[in-house]
Amino acid sequence: MNATVTVVDHPLVQHKLTVMRDRDCSTKGFRQLLNEIGMLLAYEVTRDLPLEPVSIETPVARMEAQRIQGKKLVLAPILRAGVGFLDGMLSLVPSARVAHVGIYRDPETLEAVEYYFKAPSDLADRTVLVLDPMLATANSAVSAIGQLKKRGARDLRFVCLLAAPEGIARLQSAHPDVPIWTAAIDSHLNDHGYIVPGLGDAGDRMYGTR
Ligand code: URA
Repeated sequence: MNATVTVVDHPLVQHKLTVMRDRDCSTKGFRQLLNEIGMLLAYEVTRDLPLEPVSIETPVARMEAQRIQGKKLVLAPILRAGVGFLDGMLSLVPSARVAHVGIYRDPETLEAVEYYFKAPSDLADRTVLVLDPMLATANSAVSAIGQLKKRGARDLRFVCLLAAPEGIARLQSAHPDVPIWTAAIDSHLNDHGYIVPGLGDAGDRMYGTR
């Protein structure tokens, strides 16, 4: 059975996404909004992390409080657009570890080309959030998750801003154990592999390289 797809329909997320989609949104605005949505998505994707009791002393009394169980999360942005989520997410989970996965899309074949990988060595013991704003063909996501699994990761979650139905189907078929969080599911992919209506090239829009 395929893992779940969660659409984060919080009004703040939807409002910010609409501002980002507009072709007249500035580079500065786009980058800032991607960061802000990253923070809100991090809040949703960590909602079910297991807690464990810990005994602490407040200034008034001893109590049994709750803290997140296990090792720190790993945030794994797919370069380069995935980095747009990073600061926002780190502001919510500041102790998270960061793995970088360098993949670009060959413009002719749309296939994923891997060029960089650096991650904590103990991926098997951590929850890994794989970050890429656009789940289009899913070639990059499938490849990045494959690399992370090869290095031991077993508990992975994929977080994006926009998903195409084609990308969701492909990711689910390649990695049925990896749940997906997205702010919206759009109509389809065009012949160039762009999400329609989408927001264009997320990397270009956040770095001003259009
Ligand atoms: N990558 C993007 O940045 N935008 C798309 O629409 C598809 C892939």
